[in-house]
Amino acid sequence: MLGLISTTPGPDSANILQAALPIGLGLASTAYLAMRMMRRNETLGEKSIPCAAIRTGDATHDAEYREDPDRFLSTCQKRYGPVFNCSILNQRLTVVSGPMVREVFMSQHFSFMDAIDDITGLRAFTTSVIKSNQHPDSRVVHEIVRDLVTPNLPLFTPLIVERVRSTLESRLGVCDHKLVENPQPIFADMIAGAMATVFMGSEIAQNRTVLDSFIYCTYDFGRAIGPEAREWTWGRLYSRIKYGMWNPLQKHVQVLVQAATPVVLERRRQAAEASEQGLAYKAPLDILQMLLDNFDQYGLVDLEDICGHLLLLVLASVHTSSDASTCLNYYLAAFPEHMEMLYQEQTEVLNQVAKEREQQRQKELQLGTVRSVRDFEGTELDPRNDRELSATVLKRLTRMDTFIREMMRFRCERLSLEHKARQDVVLSNGMVIPKGSKAIINMASVHQNAEVQGEDPTEFQPWRFIGKAKTATKVSSEFLPFGIGRHSCPGRFLAIQELKTVGALMVSQYSKIQFQDPSKKMQALLSAVGAPMPTGLVFTSRVTRVASD
Ligand code: HEM
Ligand SMILES: *[C@@H]1O[C@H](CO)[C@@H](O)[C@H](O)[C@H]1NC(C)=O
Ligand SMILES: *[C@@H]1O[C@H](CO)[C@@H](O)[C@H](O)[C@H]1NC(C)=O
Repeated sequence: MLGLISTTPGPDSANILQAALPIGLGLASTAYLAMRMMRRNETLGEKSIPCAAIRTGDATHDAEYREDPDRFLSTCQKRYGPVFNCSILNQRLTVVSGPMVREVFMSQHFSFMDAIDDITGLRAFTTSVIKSNQHPDSRVVHEIVRDLVTPNLPLFTPLIVERVRSTLESRLGVCDHKLVENPQPIFADMIAGAMATVFMGSEIAQNRTVLDSFIYCTYDFGRAIGPEAREWTWGRLYSRIKYGMWNPLQKHVQVLVQAATPVVLERRRQAAEASEQGLAYKAPLDILQMLLDNFDQYGLVDLEDICGHLLLLVLASVHTSSDASTCLNYYLAAFPEHMEMLYQEQTEVLNQVAKEREQQRQKELQLGTVRSVRDFEGTELDPRNDRELSATVLKRLTRMDTFIREMMRFRCERLSLEHKARQDVVLSNGMVIPKGSKAIINMASVHQNAEVQGEDPTEFQPWRFIGKAKTATKVSSEFLPFGIGRHSCPGRFLAIQELKTVGALMVSQYSKIQFQDPSKKMQALLSAVGAPMPTGLVFTSRVTRVASD
């Protein structure tokens, strides 16, 4: 769940640009937090944690942080050690750095979701769209991703690739120096289409209304708790949501239910027909079907409840991943030499895999398990699929993988993922974070630290992690964009698979991606999640003219 403060898909983008605010992780983005005015009862007198001095003339640490986050944080760390208090993002926060960040992620007494809920009232919205599993510590959405999405990724891959490819073709296509001032909606469509295919099947994923819900639910939610809603009292807002008078998420659940109902009925009809004829019904592969088949295991009560849970998945997945895939294109644009390297890698891997498949076919022919080459048609080893971006191929794109990991390291918000203490927590250095107060992670102390990342952590070095067994999905105290420990993002395998798919298709189909305004390069590379990109992109296809055959 990352934040859309203003990236702008769709027609009425100007309004959304102003009004939309992020959900979930986006809500945790510093840009967003800074907008929310918080009035907290400050507990004074905890002497053990040092307070960072505020620059003369400033009222809080915000300005100094914003001017140069890396310098501000490293200076504080040098002066005060790994744990210090700041007055920042409209809150009093305890910044935790370096090896100590583990303690915040690993302690069961710190909660990321509590912190987000504290600032936004998120839970009132999300629990109102589901009928079961309403307990704040329910792990059901996590388990759905862990048990149903991730293990089936190899099977989902061809569907994802097909969907991303067709969206790319229809939204960008073959072009020569085509300027796209705001490419974000193109990538939002790609990701929403891929997610909808995985979550609800390719038929429902064709429905434009459903795709729009996938994309816009995040914005609508942000709007509900955004600037216009700010003057409302929480009590008033909360009762409105609670009594269902006004919950922007509700309408999106209804969209999913309406689109799913005929499809589910048709699937039931086919299953009944098959069973009448004594045949096995082969259900389509998607999460909707898996939840229908396993509803009691997850305590789900009806289709509306299932769609509610799917919407929670959408909130966690679509915006985060589409933000990252938009960003990936800016990184490709910024480093054309690396883009060529990625293309070369892909070509080599595709050649190699095609060769291996041919060898496999020859072996089977020799063994006599298959009689002729034609018998491979429609099977796993169908020669027509030799050059597909299969799960095997994506897995071997190691340069693409480390490129993405390095992008996430390089760009990562310097202060993020705040956690609220559910009871007094004593850190290993003896300092106490009292119940109700919040710790925020000093991401820079890990990601911009030469001791952890190797040379020149201020530089983007896409091959930094080559040969190091540090893949983009491997979370650890060295790589925090997905969190670590029990609550770390279960969707990262799907997210990275989709990002690699987008990257692979872009480098194979486009020879050049350029900045509309190259002077905005650094600003784009370090853009906050959900913030608008400062400039557009110019795309040029590898084949600029469609060959006529
Ligand atoms: C680039 C994309 C993504 C990023 C950067 C991201 C990041 C995160 C982070 C930082 C957390 C919180 C970890 C913590 O509490 O410490 C999280 C939680 C979560 N993410 Fe993701 N995520 C992404 C994509 C996805 C996708 C595609 C899905 C679903 C398929 C997903 C599902 C979830 C869920 C269900 C949780 C809650 C886990 C829990 O509390 O147990 N995320 N994500
Ligand atoms: C530092 O922050 C914590 C909350 O995280 C608070 O309880 C404590 O009083 C603060 N210490 C000082 C000296 O402000
Ligand atoms: C698409 O979904 C909407 C909203 O759920 C529904 O009203 C509409 O009938 C669907 N369209 C098609 C072609 O199934």
